[in-house]
Amino acid sequence: MKMITAIIKPFKLDDVRESLSDVGVEGLTVTEVKGFGRQKGHTELYRGAEYVVDFLPKVKLEVAVADERAETVIEAISKAANTGKIGDGKIFVTTLEQVIRIRTGETGNAAV
Ligand SMILES: Nc1ncnc2c1ncn2[C@@H]1O[C@H](COP(=O)(O)OP(=O)(O)OP(=O)(O)O)[C@@H](O)[C@H]1O
Ligand SMILES: [Mg+2]
Repeated sequence: MKMITAIIKPFKLDDVRESLSDVGVEGLTVTEVKGFGRQKGHTELYRGAEYVVDFLPKVKLEVAVADERAETVIEAISKAANTGKIGDGKIFVTTLEQVIRIRTGETGNAAV
C-alpha cells in the first residue's frame, strides 16, 4: 500500500475531492497547514494579496491506497490541483506498512 500526501492550494480542495471520488477513493484526511516552497512564500499571491510572511496557507491531503491504485490517484490529484502557477503544491508518496479498519478488524488492502 501507499500513503499519498498532497499539499495543495486551499481553493482547489473541492475540485480535488471530487476527482478523488470519481476514481473511487473512499476515505481521506484533510488538514490545514502552512508551508513554503522554492519562492519561500514571498512572491506568491493568496486571495489577491501578496503575503509578507514566509508561510502560506495550504491544505494537506492524506490518502491511503492499494499499490495498484496509486498512479490513478496521483494523476487525479495532479490534474485537479494544477493551475500552472507557482505554489500549486507537491505530492509525496511513501510505502505504507499496514492499515487496520478498527470496526471490523480488517487489515491491508481490504481496510483502505
Ligand atoms: N521539499 C518540501 N518538503 C515539504 N513540503 C514541501 C516541500 N516543497 C513544498 N512543500 C510544501 O508544498 C507547498 C507548495 O509548494 P510549492 O508548490 O510552492 O513548491 P515549489 O517547489 O516552490 O514549486 P513552484 O515553483 O511550482 O511554486 C509548500 O507551501 C509546502 O507546504
Ligand atoms: Mg513555490
